[in-house]
Order: sequence, then C-alpha cells, then structure tokens
Amino acid sequence: MVTAGGTREPIDPVRFLGNRSSGKMGNALAHVALEAGADVTLITAAEPPGTTPGLDVVRVETAQEMGDAVRRSVRGARILIMAAAVADYRPASVSPVKLKKRRGTWSLELEPTEDILASLRKATDRRELFVVGFAAETSDLLENAQAKLRQKGLDLIVLNDVSRPDIAMGADENEVTIISSDGVVDVIPRTTKDAVAAGILGVIRPRVS
Ligand code: CTP
Repeated sequence: MVTAGGTREPIDPVRFLGNRSSGKMGNALAHVALEAGADVTLITAAEPPGTTPGLDVVRVETAQEMGDAVRRSVRGARILIMAAAVADYRPASVSPVKLKKRRGTWSLELEPTEDILASLRKATDRRELFVVGFAAETSDLLENAQAKLRQKGLDLIVLNDVSRPDIAMGADENEVTIISSDGVVDVIPRTTKDAVAAGILGVIRPRVS
C-alpha cells in the first residue's frame, strides 16, 4: 500500500486548505513496486497518473477519507508506505454554502485531524505490517525524522529536506535519507523520483523477506 498527495480539507463548497504535495513520489513508489511484481493499492489525494493496468487506485480528498481508506485496505497488506502529506488540521466546521467576502480580517477555527500512522500503531493487525513513513522537514532534519520514527512506531522513515527548491514538494527529483531505529540506513543522492522509489524499495525488500 502506498499513499500519495496532499489531502484537501474543505472550508466551503469552493475552498479548501491544502499543501504543495504533488503525489509524484507516491506515484513513483506505486509504479516501481508494481513493476517489481507487487500487488499495489495506491491511496491518493492527488491526480493519479493515468490508468495503469494492475494498479488498484483509491481516490480520497481529506485526511479522514485517507485514514478510512488505509484502514479498509490494511488487512492483508504486508507493506505500507505513507508518502502522502496529510493535513494535521481541518476547519472545525464546513460551510454548506460559499462564504461571502466581508470587511476586515477573518479567522478560521481549526481542529486536529487524526494521525493515520499513529492510529495504526494501536491497531492489532499492525504486527504483520512493515510501515514506512516520510518526514518532510525544513530544520533539524535528522532529529525531527528520528523523533517521528519513534513516536509513530515506524520501521523506516524517509527524510526529505523540503526547504531545498530542487527537491521541494512538487519537484521532479528528490534526495532522501532513509533512517531506521539504528540510525541512517541509506542516503539516495538527488535523482529522479522513480530512481529514489527504486532505492527505497531496495532498502525495504530485504527487511520484509
Ligand atoms: N501522517 C499521518 N497522519 C497525519 C499526518 C502525517 O499518517 N495526520 C504521516 C505522513 O504521511 C508521513 C508522516 O506521518 O508519513 C510524517 O508526516 P509529517 O507531515 O512530516 O509529520 P507530522 O506528523 O505531520 O508532523 P509535523 O507536521 O509537525 O512535522
């Protein structure tokens, strides 16, 4: 299972809170895994990459929908790679009608979304699942990624420095550091997202067989 893209949290029928994730890294992971012979479910909040024979695509919009889709598909899955940029907050209420412009400032009340990875940690069927998270960071890169690995109970975390324009969200290339609880496992220097995906799957493969 691979998740991809940035979730969108509706404000009203025409507006949403979102982020810059394009879904390209998750799409690349899904494709490379499929080509390697895996049965792949891609749960995506981004535009899926056309029709790909054999790829099971689940379209979602919000963090809640992505969490529900992950929980539905997780039974029987061996590997979950959470490449999606999931919103941490959503508007506390969604207006059924388009909100009209008013004078002055406007405050939007936000409430937390659930942490999908952290919620899986508690699930009983988590034991058989190899879980890989992504850490999109702009500061204290290794420290932040290692803290996420621990807090979310991950097997691996893929660290991505999104402050660099050449490998920021939406870029065609990426450069990542793969970390386990024992420390840095691999560094994949800047290359295409397909090549990064192949590198990540190369690190996962011996750990699940
Ligand atoms: N993630 C998740 N559910 C959320 C938020 C994030 O499962 N509500 C997952 C992401 O898919 C990613 C990992 O957690 O694999 C880390 O996401 P990131 O946005 O880097 O971290 P956050 O936990 O959101 O922390 P922060 O935004 O404070 O850096």
